[in-house]
Amino acid sequence: MSPVTNRQLYLHQRPVGIPTADDIRLRTVDMTTVGDGEVLIENHYLSLDPAIRDWMSGNDTYMEPIGIGECIRSTTLGKVLESRHPDFVAGDYVQGLAVNGWEEYTINPGELLSKVPNDGKYPPRYYLSIFSGAMGLTPYFGMLELGCPVAGDTVLISAAAGAVGSIAGQIAKLKGCRVVGLTGTNEKAEWLVNELGFDAAINYKECENLSEEISKVCPERLDIFFDNVGGKILDAALLNLSDHARIVFCGAISSYNASEPVPGPYNYWQILAHSATVKGLLTTNYVDQFDRANTEIREWLESGKLRFSEDIVDGIENTVEAYTRLFSGMNKGKLLVRLAAADQ
Ligand SMILES: NC(=O)c1ccc[n+]([C@@H]2O[C@H](COP(=O)([O-])OP(=O)(O)OC[C@H]3O[C@@H](n4cnc5c(N)ncnc54)[C@H](OP(=O)(O)O)[C@@H]3O)[C@@H](O)[C@H]2O)c1
Repeated sequence: MSPVTNRQLYLHQRPVGIPTADDIRLRTVDMTTVGDGEVLIENHYLSLDPAIRDWMSGNDTYMEPIGIGECIRSTTLGKVLESRHPDFVAGDYVQGLAVNGWEEYTINPGELLSKVPNDGKYPPRYYLSIFSGAMGLTPYFGMLELGCPVAGDTVLISAAAGAVGSIAGQIAKLKGCRVVGLTGTNEKAEWLVNELGFDAAINYKECENLSEEISKVCPERLDIFFDNVGGKILDAALLNLSDHARIVFCGAISSYNASEPVPGPYNYWQILAHSATVKGLLTTNYVDQFDRANTEIREWLESGKLRFSEDIVDGIENTVEAYTRLFSGMNKGKLLVRLAAADQ
């Protein structure tokens, strides 16, 4: 039976700082009918990504801001309930990359969706985690295409215990590098070293002088800095560059909740002094290579060379609280919300 109503989270007002339940509110709306070429999806998992915070601002970035009153845009994984598009039938699992929303049901044109295998080998939700741009594909292209790791390189990763960082470090290890992670708790630092095989990890929250700590742990200096954070952490890393170092600018989560313009980086001139390169990463530039990358990621998983963690919170009503974990550092690995309809 087709759903009659839909619970969804919408942008009530633009957040100042970390989003709250005042900014993002839950409402129940009536379902509309499925038009020609459209697909009705029952969402099973919502992807909670730092970039969504940027879309909640009125900022001019690589995507349109979310309008006031609109459902929070995100990537979701769901099951097709009804299809009026030739490529999909009821029962298919589909993913909508940054075109679905934090809601129980989504209706979207079929062209915006991609079918996800449900062959019993991997749960379909892996296409929101390890096989997605939010986890596996971003570090794959960022590390391999922009970082260009060479065996023996020293690699530093910020937000190393997160979705992207935890995989970026393991890929650099697979290429024979010495890998050091920065993270905000001792528990996550131990996980990086003992379970993911990082060579060392630094709890940056316990360092009086992070730059000095990095130079102690990385006496050979940094050949690659894979940066997810920006701000003070970027500045500390810049003071430790090797000549011809590569900086992969993947994200700058430390500034996503800033309400004033963010100054710095103060040590920018180190890029010149060390003939370093900084390259910005936009994973969607590699869409035509996603299948090839996922073939290799699957091989690494199956041979036990790559491990990953999903951090799953239940219930659409817990989404906003869960989202704040990205900024407090309470997540480990890929943060997802599982909705009541999820069957695996
Ligand atoms: N370029 C692309 O195409 C692309 C694609 C996907 C993601 N990204 C970017 O990749 C980065 C990581 O995303 P993710 O989804 O993997 O998130 P995540 O790393 O799973 O979660 C965010 C982590 O960042 C750390 N953090 C939060 N606020 C911080 C602050 N003020 N200072 C230092 N660390 C802070 C926290 O860990 P600890 O504090 O414990 O370290 C937190 O757990 C983000 O910047 C995101 O925008 C870019």
